[in-house]
Amino acid sequence: MRPDPRTNRRFGVGVVGLGRIGKVHARNLVETTRSARLVRVMDADESAARSCAEALGVPWSTCWDDLAADPSVEAVVIATPVASHARLIRRAAAAGKHVLCEKPLALDAGEAIDAIEAARDAGVVLQVGFQLRSDPDIADVRDKLVAGNLGAVRFLRASLRDMEPPSVRYLAGSGGLYLDGAVHTLDLARWIVGEIATVTAVDAVAPGSPAAAAGDVDSAVIAVRFADGAVGVLEHSRVAGYGFECRVEVVGSRAAVRVSNHRKTHVQWLTRGAVCVDHTANFLERFRDAYVRELESFALAASGEASIGPSGEDGLAAVVLARAAQRSAATGRTVRVTGRESASSRRVA
Ligand SMILES: NC(=O)c1ccc[n+]([C@@H]2O[C@H](COP(=O)([O-])OP(=O)(O)OC[C@H]3O[C@@H](n4cnc5c(N)ncnc54)[C@H](O)[C@@H]3O)[C@@H](O)[C@H]2O)c1
Repeated sequence: MRPDPRTNRRFGVGVVGLGRIGKVHARNLVETTRSARLVRVMDADESAARSCAEALGVPWSTCWDDLAADPSVEAVVIATPVASHARLIRRAAAAGKHVLCEKPLALDAGEAIDAIEAARDAGVVLQVGFQLRSDPDIADVRDKLVAGNLGAVRFLRASLRDMEPPSVRYLAGSGGLYLDGAVHTLDLARWIVGEIATVTAVDAVAPGSPAAAAGDVDSAVIAVRFADGAVGVLEHSRVAGYGFECRVEVVGSRAAVRVSNHRKTHVQWLTRGAVCVDHTANFLERFRDAYVRELESFALAASGEASIGPSGEDGLAAVVLARAAQRSAATGRTVRVTGRESASSRRVA
Protein backbone atom coordinates (compact mmCIF):
# COMPACT_ATOMS: atom_id res chain seq x y z
CA MET A 1 0.00 0.00 0.00
CA ARG A 2 1.53 3.34 -1.08
CA PRO A 3 1.25 6.16 1.50
CA ASP A 4 -1.18 9.01 1.00
CA PRO A 5 0.62 11.75 -1.02
CA ARG A 6 -0.80 14.41 1.33
CA THR A 7 1.05 13.01 4.34
CA ASN A 8 3.59 10.83 2.54
CA ARG A 9 3.37 8.33 5.37
CA ARG A 10 0.95 5.94 7.03
CA PHE A 11 -0.07 6.77 10.58
CA GLY A 12 0.56 3.94 13.12
CA VAL A 13 -2.76 2.80 14.61
CA GLY A 14 -3.64 0.31 17.35
CA VAL A 15 -7.14 -1.20 17.47
CA VAL A 16 -8.67 -1.89 20.89
CA GLY A 17 -11.64 -4.28 20.96
CA LEU A 18 -11.71 -6.88 18.22
CA GLY A 19 -15.35 -7.86 17.96
CA ARG A 20 -17.73 -7.25 15.05
CA ILE A 21 -16.52 -3.76 14.16
CA GLY A 22 -12.98 -3.73 15.58
CA LYS A 23 -11.98 -6.58 13.25
CA VAL A 24 -13.27 -4.59 10.27
CA HIS A 25 -11.23 -1.53 11.23
CA ALA A 26 -8.13 -3.66 11.85
CA ARG A 27 -8.41 -5.37 8.47
CA ASN A 28 -9.05 -2.07 6.67
CA LEU A 29 -5.91 -0.65 8.27
CA VAL A 30 -3.91 -3.55 6.85
CA GLU A 31 -5.50 -3.91 3.43
CA THR A 32 -7.05 -0.65 2.34
CA THR A 33 -6.16 2.62 4.05
CA ARG A 34 -3.44 4.80 2.53
CA SER A 35 -3.02 7.29 5.39
CA ALA A 36 -2.89 4.81 8.26
CA ARG A 37 -1.61 1.32 8.99
CA LEU A 38 -2.24 -1.23 11.72
CA VAL A 39 0.67 -1.63 14.15
CA ARG A 40 -0.89 -3.45 17.13
CA VAL A 41 -4.17 -4.93 18.38
CA MET A 42 -5.52 -5.38 21.88
CA ASP A 43 -8.57 -7.13 23.32
CA ALA A 44 -9.44 -8.10 26.88
CA ASP A 45 -10.19 -11.55 25.51
CA GLU A 46 -6.95 -13.40 24.73
CA SER A 47 -8.30 -15.58 21.94
CA ALA A 48 -9.85 -12.57 20.17
CA ALA A 49 -6.55 -10.66 20.37
CA ARG A 50 -4.38 -13.61 19.35
CA SER A 51 -6.49 -14.76 16.39
CA CYS A 52 -6.86 -11.25 14.95
CA ALA A 53 -3.15 -10.51 15.37
CA GLU A 54 -2.12 -13.79 13.77
CA ALA A 55 -4.44 -13.22 10.81
CA LEU A 56 -3.12 -9.69 10.25
CA GLY A 57 0.52 -10.11 11.23
CA VAL A 58 0.83 -7.56 14.05
CA PRO A 59 1.72 -7.80 17.78
CA TRP A 60 -1.14 -8.36 20.20
CA SER A 61 -1.87 -7.97 23.88
CA THR A 62 -4.65 -8.19 26.44
CA CYS A 63 -3.13 -5.32 28.38
CA TRP A 64 -3.70 -1.63 27.73
CA ASP A 65 -0.26 -0.68 29.10
CA ASP A 66 1.50 -2.64 26.31
CA LEU A 67 -0.37 -0.60 23.74
CA ALA A 68 0.23 2.69 25.56
CA ALA A 69 3.97 1.97 25.84
CA ASP A 70 4.38 1.12 22.13
CA PRO A 71 5.82 4.22 20.36
CA SER A 72 4.70 2.95 16.96
CA VAL A 73 1.08 3.38 18.13
CA GLU A 74 0.39 7.02 17.28
CA ALA A 75 -3.39 6.66 17.40
CA VAL A 76 -5.98 4.18 18.64
CA VAL A 77 -9.33 3.02 17.36
CA ILE A 78 -11.56 2.19 20.35
CA ALA A 79 -14.08 -0.47 19.39
CA THR A 80 -15.04 -1.85 22.80
CA PRO A 81 -18.52 -1.75 24.41
CA VAL A 82 -19.72 1.77 25.26
CA ALA A 83 -19.24 1.46 29.04
CA SER A 84 -15.45 1.50 28.53
CA HIS A 85 -15.23 4.31 25.92
CA ALA A 86 -14.74 7.35 28.17
CA ARG A 87 -12.19 5.57 30.37
CA LEU A 88 -10.16 4.34 27.38
CA ILE A 89 -10.24 7.79 25.73
CA ARG A 90 -8.84 9.31 28.93
CA ARG A 91 -6.09 6.67 29.01
CA ALA A 92 -5.27 7.15 25.34
CA ALA A 93 -5.10 10.92 25.81
CA ALA A 94 -2.81 10.48 28.83
CA ALA A 95 -0.49 8.41 26.60
CA GLY A 96 -0.59 11.09 23.86
CA LYS A 97 -2.46 8.90 21.33
CA HIS A 98 -5.06 10.32 18.95
CA VAL A 99 -8.45 8.59 19.21
CA LEU A 100 -11.12 7.39 16.84
CA CYS A 101 -13.82 6.13 19.21
CA GLU A 102 -16.72 4.04 18.02
CA LYS A 103 -20.20 5.40 18.67
CA PRO A 104 -21.74 6.15 21.07
CA LEU A 105 -19.09 8.37 22.62
CA ALA A 106 -20.18 7.52 26.17
CA LEU A 107 -23.09 6.36 28.28
CA ASP A 108 -24.04 9.89 29.36
CA ALA A 109 -23.14 13.55 28.91
CA GLY A 110 -20.94 13.73 32.02
CA GLU A 111 -18.69 10.89 30.85
CA ALA A 112 -18.56 12.35 27.34
CA ILE A 113 -17.48 15.76 28.65
CA ASP A 114 -14.70 14.20 30.75
CA ALA A 115 -13.40 12.37 27.67
CA ILE A 116 -13.55 15.48 25.49
CA GLU A 117 -11.70 17.53 28.08
CA ALA A 118 -9.02 14.85 28.48
CA ALA A 119 -8.40 14.80 24.72
CA ARG A 120 -8.35 18.58 24.53
CA ASP A 121 -5.94 18.93 27.48
CA ALA A 122 -3.60 16.36 25.94
CA GLY A 123 -3.78 18.01 22.51
CA VAL A 124 -4.90 14.83 20.75
CA VAL A 125 -7.57 14.44 18.08
CA LEU A 126 -10.85 12.84 19.20
CA GLN A 127 -13.12 11.68 16.39
CA VAL A 128 -16.33 9.65 16.78
CA GLY A 129 -17.26 6.71 14.55
CA PHE A 130 -20.31 8.21 12.85
CA GLN A 131 -19.45 6.56 9.54
CA LEU A 132 -22.69 7.64 7.85
CA ARG A 133 -20.97 11.01 7.35
CA SER A 134 -18.25 9.19 5.39
CA ASP A 135 -20.70 7.37 3.12
CA PRO A 136 -20.19 8.85 -0.38
CA ASP A 137 -23.93 9.07 -1.13
CA ILE A 138 -24.82 10.68 2.18
CA ALA A 139 -21.91 13.10 1.88
CA ASP A 140 -23.32 14.08 -1.52
CA VAL A 141 -26.64 14.96 0.15
CA ARG A 142 -24.85 17.42 2.39
CA ASP A 143 -22.75 18.81 -0.45
CA LYS A 144 -25.92 19.57 -2.44
CA LEU A 145 -27.43 21.30 0.56
CA VAL A 146 -24.31 23.32 1.35
CA ALA A 147 -24.10 24.38 -2.31
CA GLY A 148 -27.63 25.80 -1.96
CA ASN A 149 -29.12 23.44 -4.57
CA LEU A 150 -32.00 22.33 -2.35
CA GLY A 151 -33.17 25.80 -1.37
CA ALA A 152 -34.57 26.11 2.15
CA VAL A 153 -34.75 22.72 3.87
CA ARG A 154 -38.00 22.03 5.67
CA PHE A 155 -38.02 18.23 6.06
CA LEU A 156 -35.60 15.34 6.61
CA ARG A 157 -36.33 11.65 6.87
CA ALA A 158 -33.77 9.01 7.80
CA SER A 159 -34.21 5.34 8.47
CA LEU A 160 -31.89 2.64 9.74
CA ARG A 161 -33.09 -0.93 9.84
CA ASP A 162 -31.26 -4.09 10.88
CA MET A 163 -32.35 -7.46 9.56
CA GLU A 164 -31.91 -9.07 12.95
CA PRO A 165 -30.98 -7.86 16.42
CA PRO A 166 -27.54 -8.45 17.93
CA SER A 167 -27.12 -10.88 20.83
CA VAL A 168 -28.84 -10.28 24.18
CA ARG A 169 -25.34 -9.90 25.65
CA TYR A 170 -24.47 -7.09 23.23
CA LEU A 171 -27.85 -5.42 23.71
CA ALA A 172 -27.54 -5.48 27.50
CA GLY A 173 -24.29 -3.51 27.29
CA SER A 174 -25.23 -1.24 24.39
CA GLY A 175 -27.03 1.54 26.26
CA GLY A 176 -30.30 0.76 24.43
CA LEU A 177 -31.64 1.42 20.94
CA TYR A 178 -31.58 5.23 21.27
CA LEU A 179 -27.97 5.43 22.41
CA ASP A 180 -26.75 2.53 20.28
CA GLY A 181 -28.68 3.09 17.04
CA ALA A 182 -30.46 6.45 17.01
CA VAL A 183 -27.20 8.31 17.72
CA HIS A 184 -26.39 7.69 14.05
CA THR A 185 -29.51 9.37 12.64
CA LEU A 186 -29.52 12.10 15.29
CA ASP A 187 -25.94 12.97 14.32
CA LEU A 188 -26.85 12.83 10.65
CA ALA A 189 -29.83 15.14 11.17
CA ARG A 190 -27.64 17.68 13.01
CA TRP A 191 -24.92 17.42 10.36
CA ILE A 192 -27.27 17.87 7.42
CA VAL A 193 -29.91 20.27 8.72
CA GLY A 194 -28.62 21.78 11.98
CA GLU A 195 -29.22 21.81 15.72
CA ILE A 196 -32.24 19.96 17.07
CA ALA A 197 -34.52 21.80 19.52
CA THR A 198 -37.07 19.12 20.48
CA VAL A 199 -37.47 15.35 20.22
CA THR A 200 -40.66 13.31 20.50
CA ALA A 201 -40.24 9.54 20.47
CA VAL A 202 -42.39 6.43 20.49
CA ASP A 203 -41.09 2.88 20.53
CA ALA A 204 -42.08 -0.76 20.61
CA VAL A 205 -40.67 -4.14 21.52
CA ALA A 206 -41.80 -7.55 20.33
CA PRO A 207 -42.57 -9.87 23.26
CA GLY A 208 -39.96 -12.62 23.56
CA SER A 209 -37.43 -10.79 21.37
CA PRO A 210 -33.76 -10.36 22.32
CA ALA A 211 -34.49 -6.67 22.97
CA ALA A 212 -37.23 -7.62 25.45
CA ALA A 213 -34.80 -9.96 27.21
CA ALA A 214 -32.28 -7.11 27.47
CA GLY A 215 -34.86 -4.59 28.73
CA ASP A 216 -34.60 -2.66 25.47
CA VAL A 217 -36.90 -1.80 22.55
CA ASP A 218 -36.47 -2.94 18.95
CA SER A 219 -38.34 -0.24 17.00
CA ALA A 220 -38.50 3.52 17.47
CA VAL A 221 -39.65 6.64 15.67
CA ILE A 222 -38.28 10.03 16.67
CA ALA A 223 -39.90 13.23 15.45
CA VAL A 224 -37.44 16.11 15.65
CA ARG A 225 -37.93 19.85 15.37
CA PHE A 226 -34.83 21.72 14.31
CA ALA A 227 -33.89 25.03 15.87
CA ASP A 228 -34.61 26.79 12.54
CA GLY A 229 -38.16 25.36 12.46
CA ALA A 230 -37.63 22.49 9.98
CA VAL A 231 -38.87 19.03 11.03
CA GLY A 232 -37.65 15.48 10.62
CA VAL A 233 -38.55 11.85 11.19
CA LEU A 234 -35.92 9.33 12.26
CA GLU A 235 -36.96 5.73 12.11
CA HIS A 236 -35.22 2.68 13.59
CA SER A 237 -35.81 -1.03 13.55
CA ARG A 238 -33.74 -3.97 14.71
CA VAL A 239 -36.21 -6.50 13.40
CA ALA A 240 -36.59 -5.73 9.69
CA GLY A 241 -36.45 -9.38 8.62
CA TYR A 242 -35.81 -8.66 4.91
CA GLY A 243 -32.35 -7.05 5.28
CA PHE A 244 -30.38 -3.96 6.25
CA GLU A 245 -31.61 -0.61 5.02
CA CYS A 246 -30.36 2.96 5.38
CA ARG A 247 -32.34 5.68 3.64
CA VAL A 248 -32.06 9.45 3.78
CA GLU A 249 -34.32 12.05 2.20
CA VAL A 250 -34.10 15.81 2.43
CA VAL A 251 -36.83 18.01 0.98
CA GLY A 252 -36.03 21.61 0.18
CA SER A 253 -37.97 24.49 -1.36
CA ARG A 254 -36.25 24.00 -4.76
CA ALA A 255 -35.38 20.32 -4.89
CA ALA A 256 -35.28 17.11 -2.90
CA VAL A 257 -32.52 14.53 -2.58
CA ARG A 258 -32.95 10.89 -1.69
CA VAL A 259 -30.47 8.10 -0.89
CA SER A 260 -32.31 4.85 -1.39
CA ASN A 261 -31.49 1.36 -0.30
CA HIS A 262 -28.15 -0.02 -1.48
CA ARG A 263 -27.73 -3.16 -3.53
CA LYS A 264 -24.93 -5.70 -3.59
CA THR A 265 -25.12 -6.07 -7.37
CA HIS A 266 -26.77 -4.28 -10.26
CA VAL A 267 -28.58 -7.41 -11.37
CA GLN A 268 -32.35 -7.41 -11.80
CA TRP A 269 -34.15 -10.74 -11.95
CA LEU A 270 -37.26 -10.36 -14.09
CA THR A 271 -40.00 -12.96 -14.00
CA ARG A 272 -43.63 -12.87 -15.10
CA GLY A 273 -45.16 -9.96 -13.21
CA ALA A 274 -42.21 -9.25 -10.92
CA VAL A 275 -38.74 -7.70 -10.82
CA CYS A 276 -36.38 -8.83 -8.07
CA VAL A 277 -33.25 -7.04 -6.90
CA ASP A 278 -30.94 -7.82 -4.02
CA HIS A 279 -30.08 -5.64 -1.02
CA THR A 280 -27.42 -5.48 1.66
CA ALA A 281 -27.77 -7.78 4.63
CA ASN A 282 -26.04 -5.79 7.35
CA PHE A 283 -24.14 -2.63 8.22
CA LEU A 284 -20.80 -4.20 7.34
CA GLU A 285 -21.91 -4.67 3.72
CA ARG A 286 -23.70 -1.33 3.47
CA PHE A 287 -20.92 0.83 4.92
CA ARG A 288 -17.89 -1.00 3.53
CA ASP A 289 -16.55 2.15 1.82
CA ALA A 290 -17.61 4.47 4.63
CA TYR A 291 -15.54 2.56 7.23
CA VAL A 292 -12.42 3.01 5.07
CA ARG A 293 -13.14 6.67 4.40
CA GLU A 294 -13.64 7.46 8.09
CA LEU A 295 -10.24 5.92 8.91
CA GLU A 296 -8.65 8.01 6.15
CA SER A 297 -10.26 11.20 7.41
CA PHE A 298 -9.19 10.37 10.98
CA ALA A 299 -5.57 9.82 9.93
CA LEU A 300 -5.53 13.07 7.98
CA ALA A 301 -7.01 14.94 10.98
CA ALA A 302 -4.47 13.34 13.31
CA SER A 303 -1.61 14.41 11.05
CA GLY A 304 -3.02 17.94 10.85
CA GLU A 305 -3.86 17.68 7.14
CA ALA A 306 -7.64 17.99 7.56
CA SER A 307 -10.17 19.15 10.10
CA ILE A 308 -11.64 16.57 12.49
CA GLY A 309 -14.66 14.67 11.16
CA PRO A 310 -17.39 14.02 13.70
CA SER A 311 -15.79 15.50 16.81
CA GLY A 312 -16.10 14.73 20.51
CA GLU A 313 -18.60 17.59 20.75
CA ASP A 314 -20.68 15.96 17.98
CA GLY A 315 -20.51 12.70 19.94
CA LEU A 316 -21.69 14.50 23.07
CA ALA A 317 -24.58 16.19 21.24
CA ALA A 318 -25.75 12.82 19.91
CA VAL A 319 -25.61 11.27 23.41
CA VAL A 320 -27.66 14.16 24.83
CA LEU A 321 -30.25 13.85 22.03
CA ALA A 322 -30.44 10.05 22.32
CA ARG A 323 -31.06 10.25 26.06
CA ALA A 324 -33.66 12.96 25.49
CA ALA A 325 -35.46 10.76 22.94
CA GLN A 326 -35.37 7.82 25.34
CA ARG A 327 -36.92 10.02 28.03
CA SER A 328 -39.55 11.25 25.62
CA ALA A 329 -40.62 7.69 24.84
CA ALA A 330 -40.68 6.79 28.54
CA THR A 331 -42.77 9.81 29.57
CA GLY A 332 -44.92 10.29 26.47
CA ARG A 333 -43.83 13.93 26.30
CA THR A 334 -41.87 16.05 23.88
CA VAL A 335 -38.44 16.85 25.31
CA ARG A 336 -36.90 20.24 24.65
CA VAL A 337 -33.14 19.96 24.22
CA THR A 338 -32.16 23.40 25.30
CA GLY A 339 -32.02 23.85 29.09
CA ARG A 340 -29.76 21.87 31.36
CA GLU A 341 -28.62 19.31 28.78
CA SER A 342 -27.46 21.64 26.07
CA ALA A 343 -25.89 23.77 28.77
CA SER A 344 -23.70 20.79 29.58
CA SER A 345 -22.82 20.48 25.87
CA ARG A 346 -21.92 24.17 25.80
CA ARG A 347 -19.55 23.72 28.71
CA VAL A 348 -17.09 22.14 26.30
CA ALA A 349 -17.96 24.16 23.20
N1 LIG B 1 -20.22 2.37 13.55
C1 LIG B 1 -20.77 1.19 13.35
O1 LIG B 1 -21.30 0.88 12.30
C2 LIG B 1 -20.74 0.17 14.47
C3 LIG B 1 -21.12 -1.14 14.21
C4 LIG B 1 -21.05 -2.05 15.26
C5 LIG B 1 -20.63 -1.67 16.51
N2 LIG B 1 -20.28 -0.37 16.71
C6 LIG B 1 -19.83 0.09 18.05
O2 LIG B 1 -18.56 -0.48 18.29
C7 LIG B 1 -18.44 -0.86 19.65
C8 LIG B 1 -18.16 -2.36 19.72
O3 LIG B 1 -19.24 -3.04 19.13
P1 LIG B 1 -19.08 -4.55 18.58
O4 LIG B 1 -20.37 -4.88 17.95
O5 LIG B 1 -17.85 -4.70 17.79
O6 LIG B 1 -18.95 -5.33 19.97
P2 LIG B 1 -18.47 -6.83 20.21
O7 LIG B 1 -19.13 -7.27 21.46
O8 LIG B 1 -18.61 -7.64 18.98
O9 LIG B 1 -16.87 -6.68 20.47
C9 LIG B 1 -16.35 -5.97 21.55
C10 LIG B 1 -14.93 -6.47 21.81
O10 LIG B 1 -14.33 -5.65 22.81
C11 LIG B 1 -13.62 -6.48 23.73
N3 LIG B 1 -13.52 -5.73 24.99
C12 LIG B 1 -14.48 -5.49 25.90
N4 LIG B 1 -14.02 -4.68 26.87
C13 LIG B 1 -12.73 -4.41 26.57
C14 LIG B 1 -11.72 -3.61 27.17
N5 LIG B 1 -11.96 -2.90 28.28
N6 LIG B 1 -10.49 -3.57 26.59
C15 LIG B 1 -10.24 -4.26 25.46
N7 LIG B 1 -11.17 -5.03 24.83
C16 LIG B 1 -12.39 -5.09 25.38
C17 LIG B 1 -14.45 -7.75 23.80
O11 LIG B 1 -13.67 -8.85 24.26
C18 LIG B 1 -14.87 -7.91 22.33
O12 LIG B 1 -13.93 -8.66 21.59
C19 LIG B 1 -19.73 -0.43 20.32
O13 LIG B 1 -19.58 0.86 20.87
C20 LIG B 1 -20.72 -0.36 19.17
O14 LIG B 1 -21.77 0.58 19.38
C21 LIG B 1 -20.32 0.55 15.72
